[in-house]
Amino acid sequence: PNGLIIAIDGPSGAGKSTIARLLAKRLGYLQIDTGAMYRAVAFLVGQAGIDPGDAAAVERLCSSADIRLDNANCSLRVYANGQDVTELIRTPEMSLMTSRISALRPVRESMMLLQRRLGQDGGVVLEGRDIGTAVFPDAELKFFLFASPEERGKRRYAELVGNGEQVTLEETIEAVTRRDRQDSQRDIAPLRQAEDAIPVDSSHSSIDEVLNKMEDIARGKI
Ligand code: C5P
Repeated sequence: PNGLIIAIDGPSGAGKSTIARLLAKRLGYLQIDTGAMYRAVAFLVGQAGIDPGDAAAVERLCSSADIRLDNANCSLRVYANGQDVTELIRTPEMSLMTSRISALRPVRESMMLLQRRLGQDGGVVLEGRDIGTAVFPDAELKFFLFASPEERGKRRYAELVGNGEQVTLEETIEAVTRRDRQDSQRDIAPLRQAEDAIPVDSSHSSIDEVLNKMEDIARGKI
């Protein structure tokens, strides 16, 4: 009665955030950007000057971290311990830092608990890397959204330039590829396609085409 749990996983730059936001809007669901949560934790680790290798310190930070997502007006704002970190967590440095921090067990455990709590009643679109494999392995509907590394690099590049970052296309493609390798090769909840996930290649399709296809599939299940 409350709606589906929809998982959208995939590598960075495949269009997950845009698609998740628009799909959630069309269905009247809540969007949960789990990457933003990991970014917020990485921000706090950096701000506190904690060495990511110091497991006890990372664990202490996670147990007291207050991470909030506010989706009002269809624009996401992210708060870490009351601080608005929405823009601060989107730099290329924070992306790589997040990929390192998100591999740590206490970080994954605390964020997974939070994500399950937020999503358990359904009517949600969760996007991330491990939603269909680890957070909600029984989700009613799972998508794996991907695109070629060149295409993903180009999209991320346009986004970063739009945010005023000084980057080149080559280094952006490099960074995206490196982050995906790191996310796919970690021990805990690595990025991979769940066996029952529907693969969606966004390389040669417009946002609308991808969205229409996913909405049709979702409506067929509601
Ligand atoms: O999706 P986004 O690029 O914002 O995610 C940032 C990083 O957070 C990813 O590169 C990944 O290391 C981590 N992440 C994760 N599990 C998720 C979502 C994000 O490990 N479910």
